[in-house]
Amino acid sequence: VNINNVNLEISAVEPKQYPRSNHPEIALVGRSNVGKSSLTNVLVNRKNYAHTSNQPGKTQTLNFYNVENKIYFVDIPGYGFARVSKMEREKWATMIETYLTQRNQLDGAINLIDGRHKPTQTDIQMKAFLEYYQIPTLIVATKMDKIKKSHWNKSKSLIKKTMGLNDDQLVLFSAKTRSGKDQIWNWIQQQSGV
Ligand code: GTP
Ligand code: MG
Repeated sequence: VNINNVNLEISAVEPKQYPRSNHPEIALVGRSNVGKSSLTNVLVNRKNYAHTSNQPGKTQTLNFYNVENKIYFVDIPGYGFARVSKMEREKWATMIETYLTQRNQLDGAINLIDGRHKPTQTDIQMKAFLEYYQIPTLIVATKMDKIKKSHWNKSKSLIKKTMGLNDDQLVLFSAKTRSGKDQIWNWIQQQSGV
């Protein structure tokens, strides 16, 4: 996919701020620091357009990236970020749940997990949540550059088994090498028709 135009159209915290267009949307969800903003950058061929950080909790709003005036990628704050107050965390949870459960244009979610470890309870809960609301989901195991190629199959089996996935529901990815990017784009195109 050739990207010429990408624009952070709005950082929203409530529905009245969401874009008014009917373009399809794909959400990126996953734990703080897992690599959602990094994946966004790879998908749109930009270095640090979506701000990344090694400090968890970098993204704090729903960031709507308008891509080629056809589709939005919605970069979502990470769940399970401990270093904010309980009240703040509840506000985030409401913001995220409102978006995921009420947005008609939402065509799918990319649920990122850390490819280096066995999926956690929160990863599994997120998958169940998306399933319950019938949001088509792709699991992307990221940071795979930190794992030897010879161990990839083993990681893949562990993730599939822990999360109960078929082959076509999981992509192994690295923002560093961009491995897996085309597979993710294919899935996005299937979901959105873009
Ligand atoms: P929040 O906005 O805090 O929820 O985090 P995020 O999920 O957007 O994570 P972000 O993209 O900011 O990445 C977090 C850290 O992980 C950064 O230091 C990235 O450089 C690093 N990182 C992300 N993806 C990869 C990857 O595929 N490989 C490696 N080696 N590092 C990565
Ligand atoms: Mg982020």
